[in-house]
Amino acid sequence: MKPREPCTSCPLYDREGIVVPTGVPESKLWVIGEAPGPSEISTLRPWSGGAGRMLDRCLESADLRRSDIYLTNIVRCRPPGDRPPSTKESNHCTDYFIRPLIELHSPRVVLTLGAQALKEFTTNDKIMSSRGYVFRLNSKTLVVPTVNPAAVFHNKRINISVVQSDFAKAARLLRDPTLEPLDYPILIGHETVLRLALERGYVCLDIETSEHPSFWDRTLDVVGVGWSDKVLVMSAPFTRADIELIGSLLSTPTIAIRGQNISFDIVVLMSLGFKVSGELQDTIQLHHAIYSELPHKLEFLGSIYLNCEPWKQMRKSKLEDVK
Ligand code: URA
Repeated sequence: MKPREPCTSCPLYDREGIVVPTGVPESKLWVIGEAPGPSEISTLRPWSGGAGRMLDRCLESADLRRSDIYLTNIVRCRPPGDRPPSTKESNHCTDYFIRPLIELHSPRVVLTLGAQALKEFTTNDKIMSSRGYVFRLNSKTLVVPTVNPAAVFHNKRINISVVQSDFAKAARLLRDPTLEPLDYPILIGHETVLRLALERGYVCLDIETSEHPSFWDRTLDVVGVGWSDKVLVMSAPFTRADIELIGSLLSTPTIAIRGQNISFDIVVLMSLGFKVSGELQDTIQLHHAIYSELPHKLEFLGSIYLNCEPWKQMRKSKLEDVK
């Protein structure tokens, strides 16, 4: 068959062979890597050799098989010296072979492998701070980036369990079509917080304090309470209603207090005179019990456990005040 013009004008075109996708584009999960290497050129199949075996381990850990996915790369031909494809090359190939098919088939999730593939489908290329978060490509398709599984071989900072947790997230979104990326929480009033805390049996809490030379002289600047869907933010100078609400939440035995390193916040609140009766549920401790070897920062936990956009990268706030 005579090659079509967009390919013949590409500098990468068919230097050694063309590696075409496996699976069918009707699959609801697309997995898109970077570029073919020597193993892929010898088989003309994406993700062959050692990198392919690593990919299979990640798929298996999420109870997925190659037959469940449409598997390809952002370029179909091997770049010279196995360098990453240039943006021009990857745009060229993706514009021709991938974007129109995404439009046509609307996969539920595109799982991108590596920084180059992330850049093709989002506005950034910061793979370590983007992986595990959920990006919306359009109204039907979500993008979940992860690092290139092949990088596990040579980059000691990349732990296979992190890559596997990203595959698990893609699989969860795939299997549950009702699961949507978390939206920005709605602002609510004091009475609603107390009612919901009693109904739900827990409330999440976070405080911000000003540093002082002595720990016990810390001053409280902000207290945030709520859940992933609804929040109340109170800041100094605190009103009587603020203090009464914080007091009621902390002193009700049937309301558990949940938070990141919550023990610290509670010690500060107790030093200010609040009585605490509810169970403390610390997200850092729970995470540590599962993955003691992985980072413990909140941004990292968000990328593992939540279906959310990377909030540090989000620009515009959609907070809605319904007080
Ligand atoms: N093999 C591929 O096909 N793509 C990659 O990105 C890495 C290995």
